[in-house]
Amino acid sequence: WKVMAPVVARILQLKEERDAVILAHNYMTPEIFAVVGDIRGDSLQLAREAAKVKQNVIVQGGVHFMAETSKVLAPAKKVLIPSLEAGCSLASSITGSDVRLLKERYPGVPVVTYVNTTAEVKAETDICCTSSNAVQVVEHICAEFGTNQVILIPDQYLAKNVARMTDKKVITWAGSCEVHERFSAEDIREIRAGNPGVVVLAHPECPPEVLAEADYAGSTAAMSGYVQKKQPRQVVLVTECSMSDNVALENPGVEFVRPCNLCPHMKRITLEGIQMSLETMTHEVHVDEAVAERARVAVQRMIDLPP
Ligand code: 13P
Ligand code: SF4
Repeated sequence: WKVMAPVVARILQLKEERDAVILAHNYMTPEIFAVVGDIRGDSLQLAREAAKVKQNVIVQGGVHFMAETSKVLAPAKKVLIPSLEAGCSLASSITGSDVRLLKERYPGVPVVTYVNTTAEVKAETDICCTSSNAVQVVEHICAEFGTNQVILIPDQYLAKNVARMTDKKVITWAGSCEVHERFSAEDIREIRAGNPGVVVLAHPECPPEVLAEADYAGSTAAMSGYVQKKQPRQVVLVTECSMSDNVALENPGVEFVRPCNLCPHMKRITLEGIQMSLETMTHEVHVDEAVAERARVAVQRMIDLPP
């Protein structure tokens, strides 16, 4: 803490001077999430809040696609990302031209794109979704198009997990999250064997056989809400590592079993990086206005759905 204190103090000062707000995803390390972060949450919550911020500068405590989403929703703001290397295996798995080819192959089938995509991909899309609203979005867009088929890209596991919860035919893509795909059903069985009575919460980016072993599946915010509300004696969050640190801070009575899968992209965002970002006002995120306009329609349609 002694090492971090001067950096934290400087960041707090810079936030004032630059009229900046820090959006912190649930996967940020605790000193970012709980200490310097102003708005915290899952992808959906951060997108909703980005559209409403009063400050002139947004520093994205998250990965590049999240910063692009903020820019798309708040085009008049300066959006900064502390590392240009904070990518995402899902976002890099598909391009705008891939989506155009899919649309040619399945004419008239609505396209739902997970927010973990570039603005260029979102621009080709009818509506976006996140892990917390994917089922609702799929049902909504199918009703609107009067169809029982949907293209849900690029996460094959999210798509398969959603397909089990609707009667719609879900066409997908071969993308996956490099963090969640590493969990296996065997991992969960071993955790249960070593920790009798443990409650297992898993993210829907995990393979379906992992969710089949879990007690509950939900977005990062949904998992956090579950722990907050139910206060299990012992819990495991089958997701990125920092989540447990952050949820543990607010739930001192809950014991966390911690298999650790770190997201290398999320971990590129550091306190020092945030300080540098605010000192130098870099790296500014730009989205071509024509692309942003089309992407905004898809993201806004999702945001406008009832909570
Ligand atoms: P959510 O916070 O929306 O659950 O997303 C998880 C994730 O992997 C973001 O990169
Ligand atoms: Fe992408 Fe997975 Fe990292 Fe989230 S956790 S940013 S989905 S690679």
